[in-house]
Amino acid sequence: MCGIVAYIGNRAATPVLLDGLFRLEYRGYDSAGLSVIENKSMHTFKCKGKVAELQKSIDDQDIGSTIGIAHTRWATHGVPNDINAHPHISRDGSISVVHNGIIENYQTWKKILEEKGFQFDSETDTEVIAHLIEYFKKEYSINTEEALRRALTHIVGAYALVILDEDEPDTILAARKSSPMVFGIGSDEYFLASDVNPIGQYTDKFIFLEDDQIIRIDRNNGYRISSFENEAVSSEIHRIDVRLEEVEKGNFPHFMLKEIYQQPQTIADSMRGRYNRKDGWISVGGLKKEIDRIGQAKRLIFVACGTSWHTALVAEYLFEEIARIPCEVEYASEFRYRNPIIDEGDLIIAVSQSGETADTLAALSLAKERGAMTYGIVNVVGSSISRVTDTGSYTHAGPEIGVASTKAFTSQLAVLTLMAIQLGRYRNEVSDTEYHALIEAIDLLPSKAEQILEQNDKIRYIAGEIKSASNALYLGRGYNFPVALEGALKLKEISYIHAEGYPAAEMKHGPIALIDLYMPVIVIGTNESIQDKILSNIEEVKARKGIIIAIINEKEQRIRDIADFYIEIPKTMDALSPILSVIPLQLLAYHIAVMRGCNVDQPRNLAKSVTVE
Ligand code: G6P
Repeated sequence: MCGIVAYIGNRAATPVLLDGLFRLEYRGYDSAGLSVIENKSMHTFKCKGKVAELQKSIDDQDIGSTIGIAHTRWATHGVPNDINAHPHISRDGSISVVHNGIIENYQTWKKILEEKGFQFDSETDTEVIAHLIEYFKKEYSINTEEALRRALTHIVGAYALVILDEDEPDTILAARKSSPMVFGIGSDEYFLASDVNPIGQYTDKFIFLEDDQIIRIDRNNGYRISSFENEAVSSEIHRIDVRLEEVEKGNFPHFMLKEIYQQPQTIADSMRGRYNRKDGWISVGGLKKEIDRIGQAKRLIFVACGTSWHTALVAEYLFEEIARIPCEVEYASEFRYRNPIIDEGDLIIAVSQSGETADTLAALSLAKERGAMTYGIVNVVGSSISRVTDTGSYTHAGPEIGVASTKAFTSQLAVLTLMAIQLGRYRNEVSDTEYHALIEAIDLLPSKAEQILEQNDKIRYIAGEIKSASNALYLGRGYNFPVALEGALKLKEISYIHAEGYPAAEMKHGPIALIDLYMPVIVIGTNESIQDKILSNIEEVKARKGIIIAIINEKEQRIRDIADFYIEIPKTMDALSPILSVIPLQLLAYHIAVMRGCNVDQPRNLAKSVTVE
């Protein structure tokens, strides 16, 4: 979703801003722009389309500015076009604003300002902020910061805002409410951005702005963070090392492929130090420190969105089977609006790659309001969810840049699997024999993931055979039902083929009507315990001439014999199988999308981090 980057220091601002925008591209956007101040005069460039277009429009201009703000826009109010792109400029041209989020009452203020003679060029909610600051500044003869404070008392919504005013050419102002913003401290230079990736090459010192905070950054006097009521706030400086190679594609044609291939490593990283095969123990820190409380939990409620919601669905199977704790899995967006019953003894577990998803954050704050304990399973270090939860565990998968989530899913699952076993053990639900068998099996997951990647050529071949389909059906049972959902999501996200995931037995209650000789049906058939049932489902598809692509365990002869295509994966315990069975589905979707000429890393309309509800 929208991305912000801002700079003040001694370097030329434009290259820093453009480079930052390129690094924010992964979030998903449809237009881009920037403003810089040179010789006390604001220069703004913006256009629909890619950052490369913006760069072209600036290239031949000779701008020596060392202060500026920039933005990638993901349209909410108004179509993607040059005018709606950010920055938005005040009536007199002196104030420039970039904004992530949504101003809910912008219509009211638009009307008031229009009556006062302000003209609106764009259809956006953001433009109102630029005019409002100018209006207050002039009406009350106050400076930009005071005008911003006054404006914030009137606007309702979610925002990360950055403001540049040519009357104060050595200052950047920013404000945050429910939309992420990180402040980077270099030597004699400062940065603001939506996440650490675009500025991590310049500094490792970051402050994560909290809700209801304003920052004033002054070239000569440093920075001051304050509450909306103007009380100074002291904030912790976090040290985060963003390695450049982590946010670059390396030798891979796409981030998504790189991230699929990283999985043997990221699965291992997510479990590192949390189990020991030789000594036979599992201990996830965030869980360990609250084990007595969590161990007594009456119910686990998982809240998440997108792929993370699929992770949570697998977690439900894991925690119910292994730890024998009742679980519920909720779309965060539904949970927050339906007055859910939250009891003492419930633990709310938020699963999120970015740690910034607006609905997941809102679900957590509702749970906290009602006194529940909260746990975060988060990838991005220092993100909002990691900060608001009572305890939690990072997944340590490294930056995930491809919009279609891959390594985040398997690392979330790895952490949750360890937690389910640890909790099961604490609750005396896991015998010694099971415990050690699980630890042995976990230890082999990274090398088994590696073996799956070795089948990439075969998977690419199968992709070629089904790439022209208009629809696809994914079927799985038990632990692999959520994997079917995830496989279908991957395909529709990046190839735009309509795909649905179903529990295999449910096929008879609807989707079977769609099956004909053009319909690929991808069956995840690795669960040992229900092999016969899956076989029957496959027969039902074959009887209607559907094309079967089966994900099976090595040497599984019966399914192999009737499937049109099969992909073998190394056998593991049923509870662990989703971590492996999803990998061929990621590769299948990837190759199909590439063959169809789709933009794999930045699929249309999608955003990596959904920071508005
Ligand atoms: C967006 C992304 C998905 C992601 C979902 C939840 O839709 O495109 O890949 O699964 O948000 O994001 P989170 O960061 O909370 O896991």
